[in-house]
Amino acid sequence: MAKTAAVILAAGKGTRMHSRRPKVLHAIAGKALVQHVVDEVQAAGVDQVVLVIGHGGEEVKKTLGDGFTYAWQKEQLGTGHAVMQAMAHLDPEVERVVVLSGDVPLLRGDTVKQLLDRFAQAQAKGAVLTAYVDDPSGYGRIVRDAGNKVVQIVEHRDASPDQLTIREINSGTYCFDKTVLEEALRELKPDNVQGEYYLTDVIQQMGRRGLTVIAFPVEDPLEIMGINNRAQLAAAEAVFRDRINQRLMLSGVTLIDPQTTYIDAQVRIGSDTIIYPFTILRGNTCIGQDCLVGPNTDLTDTTVGNGVRIRQTVAEEAEIGNNCTIGPFSYLRPGTVLRDGVKVGDFVEIKNSVLEEGSKVPHLTYIGDALIGKSVNVGAGTITCNYDGKNKYQTIIGDGTFIGSNSNLVAPLKIGANAYVAAGSTLTSDVPEGSLAVARERQRIIPDWGKRQKTQKERT
Ligand code: UD1
Ligand code: CA
Repeated sequence: MAKTAAVILAAGKGTRMHSRRPKVLHAIAGKALVQHVVDEVQAAGVDQVVLVIGHGGEEVKKTLGDGFTYAWQKEQLGTGHAVMQAMAHLDPEVERVVVLSGDVPLLRGDTVKQLLDRFAQAQAKGAVLTAYVDDPSGYGRIVRDAGNKVVQIVEHRDASPDQLTIREINSGTYCFDKTVLEEALRELKPDNVQGEYYLTDVIQQMGRRGLTVIAFPVEDPLEIMGINNRAQLAAAEAVFRDRINQRLMLSGVTLIDPQTTYIDAQVRIGSDTIIYPFTILRGNTCIGQDCLVGPNTDLTDTTVGNGVRIRQTVAEEAEIGNNCTIGPFSYLRPGTVLRDGVKVGDFVEIKNSVLEEGSKVPHLTYIGDALIGKSVNVGAGTITCNYDGKNKYQTIIGDGTFIGSNSNLVAPLKIGANAYVAAGSTLTSDVPEGSLAVARERQRIIPDWGKRQKTQKERT
């Protein structure tokens, strides 16, 4: 099999974004534009991925990580010039080169595969992915001859009034025979309005040499939408989110209002789960079956079991077991692990803590750096005092223990199993198993206090 490399152009600044960040690192659905392109070409099954980087190149490299070949383009002299920088980095066995733009994030791996198939079937030396659009402004136009053969791609700025009316546009995605591409790149000249080396000129050259060049129009023109400014970024985001929502709904997830449900690409959700409006599910969040999530819930990198109910909650890097009830108004911070059947209620914050099966923290509580056993009841207003201004300390509570309301648990602290803590206690030392800890002033009764106040007032 002929080996195929993908060359992704990602060196441009993206002037029209008016951003300090390189354009290809702007995100849609929580994923950098260029990462979308990388993931899709990998899904299409290429053997090598080469990224041409320049503006913000170090940042791009850091975002994408190892496992790819990086080619530097120090000066951005055009798309043709960018591809020239990649050629020396291609593996020697590579025979076909797919070229893509790092700013075209909606392109599907399947479409790239189809382009490769067409290229092979036609035994072509060049193929370009195109689209018919209602508003072709800004894009390069596909010029065909009387026999419908592609002869040229002309940039908007270089086009004649006649050519400007052409509705078939260049997507910026191509497939080339490597040897022919190498030869054509050597001939490129920057003789155009922008004084750049245009990759598009390669197509014209190949045509002139009598080599087979094909244009393959995509079915859905939305796929080849290029992102040049923030309005296009938002438009692409909407298209992409709609795709995600459609996929999830068709797989058995109910979205009460897809328009106000924001789900990142990698998120997984089990069947018969219902997502209520204004819910944001980010990163690697994974939700089981038969859950009720939202409204107004924001989960990042959080795992949720089956049969869980979460309302008005923010969670980050938390793990929630089966049949838990969370919220309304809970805040689960990184390192929170809730085993099956745990209940976390309103105005409860939990951080770096494990709550074993069936434990309850129903209201107004802060739990930090704690290990809480099974079937523990934590009363309203309980605070683990885990921080002394310098260091953090752990609180350990045994199975079946009852913590009375408004208790301060000053860590480090161990409370044994089946113990009781009287409401309003401030605990500074350990509590043995099965005992009751009372750590507060005893109540005093001062009789006739009201009467005495009154006579005092009369005297003054
Ligand atoms: C390009 C095509 C145009 C096509 C459009 C599709 C050319 C000459 N024009 O135009 O026909 O309709 O894409 O979106 O190819 N880049 C580099 N180095 C450079 C210049 C660009 O890496 O020196 C990268 C950019 O970062 C970007 C991609 O190449 O990811 C496309 O460049 P851009 O300037 O956006 O090209 P368009 O004007 O959109
Ligand atoms: Ca572009």
